[in-house]
Amino acid sequence: MKIDKNVEEDGVIFMSIKDSDSVEAGSDASGHKEPENGGEGDVTILAIESSCDETAAAVVRNGREVLSNIISSQIALHTVYGGVVPEIASRKHVEKINGCVRAALSEAGLTLDDIDAVAVTYGPGLVGALLVGVSEAKAISFATGKPLIGVHHIEGHISANFIENKDLEPPFVCLVVSGGHSHLVVVKDYGVYEIIGQTRDDAAGEAFDKVARAIGLGYPGGPKIDAAAREGNPDAFSFPQAKIPDAEYDFSFSGLKSSVLNLINQAKMQGQELSQADVAASFQKAVVEVLTSHAIKACKEYGYDKLAIAGGVASNTALRTLMEKECAANNIRFYRPSPVFCTDNAAMIGAAAYYEYRKGVRFGLDLNAVPNLPLGDRERRFHADKR
Ligand code: KG4
Ligand code: ZN
Repeated sequence: MKIDKNVEEDGVIFMSIKDSDSVEAGSDASGHKEPENGGEGDVTILAIESSCDETAAAVVRNGREVLSNIISSQIALHTVYGGVVPEIASRKHVEKINGCVRAALSEAGLTLDDIDAVAVTYGPGLVGALLVGVSEAKAISFATGKPLIGVHHIEGHISANFIENKDLEPPFVCLVVSGGHSHLVVVKDYGVYEIIGQTRDDAAGEAFDKVARAIGLGYPGGPKIDAAAREGNPDAFSFPQAKIPDAEYDFSFSGLKSSVLNLINQAKMQGQELSQADVAASFQKAVVEVLTSHAIKACKEYGYDKLAIAGGVASNTALRTLMEKECAANNIRFYRPSPVFCTDNAAMIGAAAYYEYRKGVRFGLDLNAVPNLPLGDRERRFHADKR
């Protein structure tokens, strides 16, 4: 994997991620791989993602081959405010989206004529941010007459696992841990999900972000705690790991967060200095242990021998290490996307869209952003118009 980065004048980071696999045999100079069957039956999708603070576009063939993957990250712009400012996010998406789509097509060595469908995240997420991607995708669909596929953001995160694991097929268990979601899901088939556990309060990523702010690490909390924890002692403090008696696969992180805040306040009152690294490592250990034990238990009790992780928190080093160890000890095959496919990107949306396309999902130009779109049980449109 090769990542070309360019910091633009406004502080936005423009990234082009090149999957080294796609540039192997059969590639031309642009990295564009000729399909083995001469193109018959291949489905090439232009995918767009703008649900939070990343503007992204990608071209994905047959759900698993990433021809291009462009991410324009606004993270630096929001850092000064300590979190994502929705209005700034929407405005930047408007400025960046055409450039991202153009770059995705040109890096794939394709034009809109070569695309079979355009896919876009339509929820969940920030409504103003989602609307930019949805409008872009609808405009392209209208102008080209190509089918439009609305994709669920979390289904995209789960599908990121298909990109680098060509052998992975449902059914499997997936732990989805992002800034807004913590779900334990059985992926029964492509696009068919059974939620077996979810958070009762904060999402795992949200807990990372709040604790990072409290200990003075700032935004974005996840990567900063991950880095600080490497220098700290995970056994320095013992933080609670919530168990919910009537729902053993559900999560709760608010008690853990309060416990960290109490520790900080107590130390302040007593004039003691706390080690940021020790707090980060101990907090991270509590989160990672509860996520891992729930996921392993679900695999064993539901009888699945494949476990995947997805979402921004899935890039956490300690989570990946513990999951790997526990899966090996329990004879479970462990799947995890590379970190760049864990955080928001459009390649994962193209992967999810392919399986929707194959099922005949086609949205009309009345597609709208749905900020609280539910996972699993959502309305899909089939051949909404004649395209
Ligand atoms: O999936 P994502 O990019 O966006 C959402 O859909 O929410 O997830 C963002 C979340 C943030 O809360 C961020 O702090 C967390 O993922 N995150 C991490 C790491 N990298 C990102 N959390 C823990 N460790 C990391 N290395
Ligand atoms: Zn996400």
